[in-house]
Order: sequence, then C-alpha cells, then structure tokens
Amino acid sequence: MVKKYPFIPYHLQTYSEDEKIKRSYEMYNFMNSRRSIRSFSDKPIPREVIENIVRTAGTAPSGANMQPWVFVIVSDSDLKRKIRLAAELEEKEFYDHKISNEWRQDLAPLGTSWEKPFLETAPQLIIVFQQKYRLDEKNIKRKNYYVIKSVGIAVGMLILAIHNAGLATLTHTPISMNFLRDLLGRPENEKAFVIMPVGYPKEDVEVPDLKRKPLSEILIWS
Ligand SMILES: Cc1cc2nc3c(=O)[nH]c(=O)nc-3n(C[C@H](O)[C@H](O)[C@H](O)COP(=O)(O)O)c2cc1C
Repeated sequence: MVKKYPFIPYHLQTYSEDEKIKRSYEMYNFMNSRRSIRSFSDKPIPREVIENIVRTAGTAPSGANMQPWVFVIVSDSDLKRKIRLAAELEEKEFYDHKISNEWRQDLAPLGTSWEKPFLETAPQLIIVFQQKYRLDEKNIKRKNYYVIKSVGIAVGMLILAIHNAGLATLTHTPISMNFLRDLLGRPENEKAFVIMPVGYPKEDVEVPDLKRKPLSEILIWS
C-alpha cells in the first residue's frame, strides 16, 4: 500500500516480566506519594524545569492530533495579584451564595475557602487554555476534536511531570475563569481550563488525610 503521508519506524522499550512488574509498582508508589497542596513557599523554580514540564504535557495524545492546548506561565507579582483578586471575587460569591449544601459538605474535609493566597505565593502559575477551535493559514475556523478529553489528559501528564521534578501543585478551577482570557490577552478561540500553581510546599505544610479508593473498587475484570 502506498502511504500518502510519511510514516516512521516506532521502537518501544522492552522489559522482562519482572522488570515490568517492578517498574509498574514503583510508578504506582511514586504517584501515590503525590498530593495537592494549598500552601506554597515563594522559592523560585528554574525556567528550564518549567519548560520540561510543559514539554512533557505537550506529548499527550489528542483528538486527531490537534494538540488543542496552550500553557501560559505567570510569574509576575502584579499579574498574580490581579489573578488572585479576580478569582477570589468569583470564589467568595460561590462560597457565600451559590454553593449547595451537598457541595459544601463534600468540600469540608479539604478545608478550602474562598481565600486563595497560593495564587500569589506560588512562584509560578501554569494556566492551561483549551483551544475550542483553530484558525488555518487563511484564518478560517477549523474544528478541534475531543478538546476537553485531550486537555484533561495533558493536564494529567503535567501533574505527573511536576511531581517527578520534585515540585508540588494544585488543580485549581475557580467557578468561572473567563477573566483569565482578558487578563492574559489570549485569543477568542481559547478558554481557560485550569490554574496550576507550581512550587515548593510551605514549611510544615499539612494535607487532608484523604483515602484513595482501593483497587477492588476501581478495577473490574470483565
Ligand atoms: C478537576 C479538578 C478540579 C479541582 N478544583 C479544585 C479547586 O478549585 N480548589 C481546590 O482547592 N482543589 C481543587 N481540586 C483538588 C482536589 O480537591 C484534590 O485533587 C482532591 O481532594 C484529592 O486530593 P489529592 O490531589 O491530594 O490526591 C481539583 C481537582 C480536580 C481534579
């Protein structure tokens, strides 16, 4: 068969059965040690580390390979402050008036509130934007596919890369993030997906004592 588009050979690293078991177990243990934190020190992160973390997220699979994501790094104190104030405005309204009783109860063990100081203290905010559609060379609107699923997978890989670099993060989703497009001067086809503050935990940081579901609850052999 003549292929219209180029294909290249692909070689997957192979491991013995024992190595596979060991590697998969080590990976589980490593990822099981990841926690979200809500209290950061202001210690800076080398630029190259951020670049590699974003590079890793950019290796994610995506619908029709559209790679419908952009990662905006915010380090400037004034801009971080503006983001914090805008986010807290939304969050205060949510916590004071919009939250349902059920949601309030579910959030209680996490100890969260409308106050988001980490948006200022973390040395860097990675703001992930999803590209709802794209513009081709002639500026014509073209479709992106499975955008939310694709960006969700990329954020998962971003979280893994952050943990692997010895840094911590939080998946933060203010109720509405529309203010971010204007504040960061992003185009109309982009929508903020998540804010990931990245940095080092503040000294003596504590995290809620949460339990992960056991394998028996999440794995079904059918
Ligand atoms: C899609 C998503 C949205 C989240 N939004 C928030 C948020 O806005 N604020 C917050 O403090 N935590 C947020 N979290 C973090 C979760 O509360 C946290 O992942 C969960 O409690 C499990 O804790 P762990 O990450 O330490 O395992 C979010 C997590 C996800 C996956």
